[in-house]
Amino acid sequence: MSKRIALVTGGIGGIGSGICRQLATDGFTVVANYIKAEEAKAQAWLAIERAAGRDIHIAEGDVSNFDSCTTMINKIRSDVGFVSVLVNNAGITKDGVFKKMPLENWMDVLNINLNSVFNVTKNVVDDMLVQGWGRVINMSSVNGQKGQFGQTNYSAAKAGMHGFTKALAQEIASKGITVNTISPGYIGTEMVMAIKQEVRDQIISTIPVGRLGKPEEIAKLVSYLASDDASFITGSNIAINGGLHMC
Ligand code: CAA
Repeated sequence: MSKRIALVTGGIGGIGSGICRQLATDGFTVVANYIKAEEAKAQAWLAIERAAGRDIHIAEGDVSNFDSCTTMINKIRSDVGFVSVLVNNAGITKDGVFKKMPLENWMDVLNINLNSVFNVTKNVVDDMLVQGWGRVINMSSVNGQKGQFGQTNYSAAKAGMHGFTKALAQEIASKGITVNTISPGYIGTEMVMAIKQEVRDQIISTIPVGRLGKPEEIAKLVSYLASDDASFITGSNIAINGGLHMC
């Protein structure tokens, strides 16, 4: 069988890099998506991954823009092949209390974290249907499950991702395609390190395991969901948060 292709949006960031490396180790040809503003970072990242012998490519595209996604997926299809595994991982935070939140911070987070899921999935799902096999893995957050002070935008977007998962999972389960959500807690990435230290320390003090998570821990779960072994898991939301939220 030829190698399956996995696309990871926001693939050159903290959690995204971990996922790309794990999927490459698992035997996928991996495509890491990035935005134009990070061209130089993406090229440098790719050079490191290739030097390490990983079968990884990069693809520029703005996940908040449908046409940009169409262009990107068309290019991946012709340069690399059909995407079989899609990890909707791209996301941003623009935290602030609701009273002070400008419309722009609401729209940016909803567009990049939630509308992106439509924009990218819509462009790959037909190829998965033709192949009769596929995996859509949506990277949500503990804060989509429990809400978080200062994150009305992010919590709404992340909760919305799981609604999408449950609906699409029902529509395409019979076609060999699973759709699942992973809800990580606080992971030691730039996004979490951007929280003011005293606020971050307070959050860490509420995590029963007593530490931040690691990108590799999230990547191992993605790896399982992307495998043939996980074909009976669909429509699920799997928490990986050190016990911060139990449901
Ligand atoms: N619950 C209740 N009250 C809280 C609170 C909480 N969790 N956090 C802060 N407050 C209170 C403060 O005590 C303070 O009260 P007073 O005015 O009476 O002193 C008031 O709310 C204002 O708090 P801040 O000083 O923190 O307000 P700020 O405007 O400086 O900052 C904020 C607001 C940017 C939202 C800041 O609180 C913050 O960064 N919070 C953390 C948000 C967070 O967890 N982001 C996660 C980013 S990482 C991520 O999202 C990845 C993932 O998936 C997990």
